Amino acid sequence: MRNLTEDNLTDAVLARLDGCDDPRLKQVMSAMIRHLHAFVRDVEPTPAEWFAAIQFLTRTGQICDGERQEYILLSDTLGVSMLVDAINNRKPAGATESSVLGPFYVEGAPQQHTGADLAPGEGPGVMVSGTVRGTDGQPLGNAVLDVWQTAPNGLYHVQDAAAPEYHLCGKVASAADGSYRFRTLKPVSYSIPGDGPVGQLLDKLGRHPFRPAHLHFIVSAPGYKPVVTQLFTEGDAYLESDAVFGVKNSLVVDYEKDGDEWKVAYDFVLEPEA
Ligand code: BEZ
Ligand code: FE
Repeated sequence: MRNLTEDNLTDAVLARLDGCDDPRLKQVMSAMIRHLHAFVRDVEPTPAEWFAAIQFLTRTGQICDGERQEYILLSDTLGVSMLVDAINNRKPAGATESSVLGPFYVEGAPQQHTGADLAPGEGPGVMVSGTVRGTDGQPLGNAVLDVWQTAPNGLYHVQDAAAPEYHLCGKVASAADGSYRFRTLKPVSYSIPGDGPVGQLLDKLGRHPFRPAHLHFIVSAPGYKPVVTQLFTEGDAYLESDAVFGVKNSLVVDYEKDGDEWKVAYDFVLEPEA
């Protein structure tokens, strides 16, 4: 096809998908082309603006490595990660709601029994306790709570060369009656990485880079759908303006003073596998 114009270029590009024999890839690429062309028609970028966008995406890729994932950060800060999460986690009433995984989860944290101390020698600590149940009310023994969080300096262990590997992380198993308990440090609100292209973009958009304090969890049990979620701290200054849009009311918890330390309770409820 020759002499393509503003009016027929999109259809010509879509027609080139006719030879694709993967129906899902064809559907995804067709939608991507249609939405991208509609975006360009809407914005009418100059060549300099389009090149600036390409340079931004190039810098976003160049700063990624084994530990740094700037594309996840971009998806998170544009609300896309939470939208994908919402579409894929339409939970029945009563089931624990999900939130974003984030870029700092590392598989392989040490296995721990209920009652474990994830912060030995550090304090003041917080005792986190509760139960893991199914939406049918069944207590789930041997459920696994894979936990990770920032240290008081606002960094995850993977961001901090001075931190011990898997600092403030652990896979805590529930007891036979579904109860769990572990000691850790009270989480702090922190800035997502601001020294890369995503941080620069937030700055230009007049947005702050902070997340409210939270504990991360992946809670799983045989026969039940795992939930990726977070527990946020009541009263945190950033609950209403989380940089990655992850806060839900049902995930906000109250920390209570317990002598020199803190305590917090939360019951996780998992949906049975289909
Ligand atoms: C996190 O909570 O670890 C996180 C989530 C999204 C972007 C950056 C950090
Ligand atoms: Fe986090």
